[in-house]
Amino acid sequence: MTRFHIRQLNKSVDKTSFDCGQPELNDYIRHYASQDVKRNVARVFIATPESAETQLAGFFTLSAGSIHCSELPEAFAKTLPRYPVPVAILGRLAVDVHFQGKGLGSILLTEACQRVAHASSTLAVIGIIVDAKDAAAEFYRHFGFTPLPGKPNKLLLPTTTFAPKTLIR
Ligand SMILES: CC(C)(COP(=O)(O)OP(=O)(O)OC[C@H]1O[C@@H](n2cnc3c(N)ncnc32)[C@H](O)[C@@H]1OP(=O)(O)O)[C@@H](O)C(=O)NCCC(=O)NCCS
Repeated sequence: MTRFHIRQLNKSVDKTSFDCGQPELNDYIRHYASQDVKRNVARVFIATPESAETQLAGFFTLSAGSIHCSELPEAFAKTLPRYPVPVAILGRLAVDVHFQGKGLGSILLTEACQRVAHASSTLAVIGIIVDAKDAAAEFYRHFGFTPLPGKPNKLLLPTTTFAPKTLIR
């Protein structure tokens, strides 16, 4: 089984041959991800096989954002103040076609949750929001993300479901 090294985007990785089957995501990692990092708009994390450290197998991005409680499921919104609340945004997550269906998407999603859990001990967020592509919304539901009311492709995973209490209390 392939083992992966996950770390921040760096210059040594080959972004040009990455293909996840979604041109928009391919284009993002090839041309825009580094700029977003430099401008502090997103942090970009990459996975490379331990045996081929320059081969890009997958990536995800994390940014800070906010959401108004009127967009959230009522039961959850009731527990929150009536003004925009902070969230982590999982902006993009993609796996190269050669590695899809082998568990790397799950590994990247778990890593994203762990990083948000740790970050949330310093910078509070109520959860992770993802704007999924049509074909991927089911992938996130599989891991417990729930769609926001009237927005089947915009999903939330509350911090309380993945961050240990010892980390955030
Ligand atoms: C969606 C994507 C990230 C999944 O990555 P992956 O490495 O293929 O996923 P995994 O092998 O870790 O699959 C984990 C589980 O999710 C399920 N799954 C994977 N892709 C799925 C999808 N599109 N819809 C529903 N379930 C999916 C798998 O069946 C697996 O289930 P299991 O745990 O019961 O075996 C990947 O297919 C991809 O990059 N697609 C193109 C880009 C994209 O759409 N990204 C999302 C943008 S928001």
